[in-house]
Amino acid sequence: MRFIVTRLVVLLLGMATTLVYAAEPINERRALFNYQILCQGCHVGDGRGGKGVPNMKGLVGQFLKISKGREYLVRVPGSANSALNSRELAELLNWMIPFFGKDSAPKEFKPYTEQEVQILRENPLMEVVEYRAKLMKEILLLEP
Ligand code: HEC
Repeated sequence: MRFIVTRLVVLLLGMATTLVYAAEPINERRALFNYQILCQGCHVGDGRGGKGVPNMKGLVGQFLKISKGREYLVRVPGSANSALNSRELAELLNWMIPFFGKDSAPKEFKPYTEQEVQILRENPLMEVVEYRAKLMKEILLLEP
């Protein structure tokens, strides 16, 4: 009996934390607007980038295959140092990844939460180009 009660408490606590930390629903219009105002200047309307800005089309979701890659998408200066608050940034990324990345993200991709983004962006990346190349190598090694 005590075992069952303990299990129940653990289960309920788990549900409560999921509720508190679940990602907010995406407001697509706001996400697109924020992208157009703050990101599009470099990343271009369709996400193809150019001039040193990487192409996100059909690709950006691949970073989610490894945890450092998931962190990278938030810690990259364009994201981390943006004028958006962490809730808006989480929303923008959750919208942007499938919108530009199409099915490059793994199916089990869990949307970013405000709390996760808040913690990650406090540690923005330096030496981004080298770091990105290292991540890409790790990701390519995962492929069969
Ligand atoms: C001044 C130009 C510029 C702006 C504005 C900008 N970015 Fe970027 N972004 C870059 C560059 C350059 C990279 C490649 C990594 C690096 O050198 O920072 C990049 C990389 C990224 C990546 C990783 C993609 C990859 O394939 O490596 C994400 C995610 C990203 N930016 C999100 C954003 C978001 C979200 C915004 C708007 C809030 C934004 N960026 C605004 C220039 C910009």
